[in-house]
Amino acid sequence: MGEERKRRRRKKGPGRIESLVRNFLAFFGFCFIVFNLFLVSKIKPSSLDDGKAIPHKEKRTPRAFNFEVDIDFHDKSAPRVLKSTTSSTSTTSTTLSSETSSKESEPESEEKKAEVIPGNPLLAQLQKKEGVVQTAQLIDRVRYLIAENPDESIPKRYADNTTVPDLEFMITPEVDCVRKDLVIFVKSRVESSGLREIIRNTWAHTHAIEKWSIATIFLVGKSDSKYLNKNLQNEGRDKQDLLVGDYLDAYQNLTSKSISGLQWFANECTDSRNYLSVDDDVFPDLPLILGFLNKAENSQVELACLYNYVQHARVTRKGKWQTSWESYGKEFYPVYCEGACFSMPRWAAVKLFKNAQVTYRDAPVDDAYLTGVLREKAGLIPKQVQNKRMCKHLVNDDEIIQKLRAEWAQHQP
Ligand SMILES: *[C@@H]1O[C@H](CO)[C@@H](O)[C@H](O)[C@H]1NC(C)=O
Ligand SMILES: *[C@@H]1O[C@H](CO)[C@@H](O)[C@H](O)[C@H]1NC(C)=O
Repeated sequence: MGEERKRRRRKKGPGRIESLVRNFLAFFGFCFIVFNLFLVSKIKPSSLDDGKAIPHKEKRTPRAFNFEVDIDFHDKSAPRVLKSTTSSTSTTSTTLSSETSSKESEPESEEKKAEVIPGNPLLAQLQKKEGVVQTAQLIDRVRYLIAENPDESIPKRYADNTTVPDLEFMITPEVDCVRKDLVIFVKSRVESSGLREIIRNTWAHTHAIEKWSIATIFLVGKSDSKYLNKNLQNEGRDKQDLLVGDYLDAYQNLTSKSISGLQWFANECTDSRNYLSVDDDVFPDLPLILGFLNKAENSQVELACLYNYVQHARVTRKGKWQTSWESYGKEFYPVYCEGACFSMPRWAAVKLFKNAQVTYRDAPVDDAYLTGVLREKAGLIPKQVQNKRMCKHLVNDDEIIQKLRAEWAQHQP
């Protein structure tokens, strides 16, 4: 009894302090915004832009100082910037900076080059406004960090269960994925039909590995082009290995793409032993991977990072993989497997999918979400597999098809 009460009291203490701090911050934030509104109102409307009128990147190039060209003088919507704290492109330096992740593509140097040109009052005003946006983001950051429990590794928003409808499919594969040793899901883009054909004829050509039973399925989204959708339909009918989900094929929808594979595997590929997810610019060495999966000592592995094991990855708040504080209220992602190549035994994949059915899916970094956030929620333990030869990441460029062919040639006896 006494223990119980003590525990309750302990819980109560920090709660009250927390709410005090929160109220204080809210008040501080409010005063700050009012103060800045006041500042902004003192700038002549003609000198304002809404932050979008000037393309972000160009803002720092010398050319951008030509205001007549770059500023929309009629746009008086400046105060909107103050409110759109979570969606505006940030200039705070929170990029995804993990040891191994490769998604850190936005160069930071450009963002930091803001310098005041002496004697240009217009520019000084603009910079003041930039500071407003930055500070508003900082407030957001503090607000969300305080609201989150530091002992939890994923934001409350994802830890809590919420019902999410299953994905609908436009085209489903006919390939038999029941009772396989391995079912491979290849994340592919609508327009990459040439690449898919090469994959079918090289590493996914399972006659090469007769010892094992394998099925390969391509994960694709729908296009907004009628022409491409028509081609996709034909390809699906001819090859019978496309799973086309009812989502637009865009990188912001990669999370849907990944989950579409899990859903198909969980529902249709009954009694199959292993799930493998690869990107279409990866060359998986299937004999090596199957050798690994079939070793008795590896049967305990719940999630095998066959490519990179990413630790301490910071959530990126700007650029292509931008995630708002509202959507992800923590600084870092939990440990995750880079999406290029990872595998799971069936029971783990099913468990992951069961959790995907009750979790928000709006985190744009699909691998951090699937093998990080969802994995953590499902309580699965990831393991870095040392052998880098299992999955070779080829750079996806104009020569990707030649590279896949060359890699395949090297694998022939
Ligand atoms: C993702 O897919 C949904 C459903 O098709 C669509 O409404 C949304 O616009 C897509 N997102 C992007 C960024 O294309
Ligand atoms: C949330 O959903 C998962 C997956 O269905 C389930 O295992 C878990 O028990 C649920 N948690 C709560 C608190 O309902």
